[in-house]
Amino acid sequence: MTEFNLNGKSIIVDIDEDTSLLWAIRDVFGIKGTKFGCGIGMCGACTVHIDGRAVRSCITPLSAVGGAEITTIEGLDAAGQHPLQKAWIQAQTPQCGYCQSGQIMQAASMLKDYPNPSDADIDNIMSGNLCRCMAYARIRKAIKLAAAELAGAATTGASS
Ligand code: FES
Ligand code: FES
Repeated sequence: MTEFNLNGKSIIVDIDEDTSLLWAIRDVFGIKGTKFGCGIGMCGACTVHIDGRAVRSCITPLSAVGGAEITTIEGLDAAGQHPLQKAWIQAQTPQCGYCQSGQIMQAASMLKDYPNPSDADIDNIMSGNLCRCMAYARIRKAIKLAAAELAGAATTGASS
């Protein structure tokens, strides 16, 4: 029995605790935005947040997530209007799209630590998220657009 919170909902599952979080999310709960790529923690397609930090769900067993707050791309913003999601559209970032939910979840985690990331910060922290379509330049552009929007929101909030 594993209990956790998934996209704001309390969940209790009674399946093998060695099951990866990725397969529980996709096959047990039917939430398909999180993708399977390599299955060994090397591509980032399966990235979700656990307690607000990016993790590779393909190598995270259910036994490690008891009591945790798990967020997938579907839960990043209820209306799909997170600044990163808006920036991704504005920059026309995806090509095939397969890697993109993982890219956005990794970027969302990064912006908590680097609200104004340099090219080097982005290249360094996003380096584990592979894109076979080579959309890296547009990913970088979208992250900077989102960072600018978040910075503007913070400034507006501080002055109001
Ligand atoms: S599928 Fe998890 S890192 Fe590749
Ligand atoms: S957009 Fe195709 S793998 Fe990244």
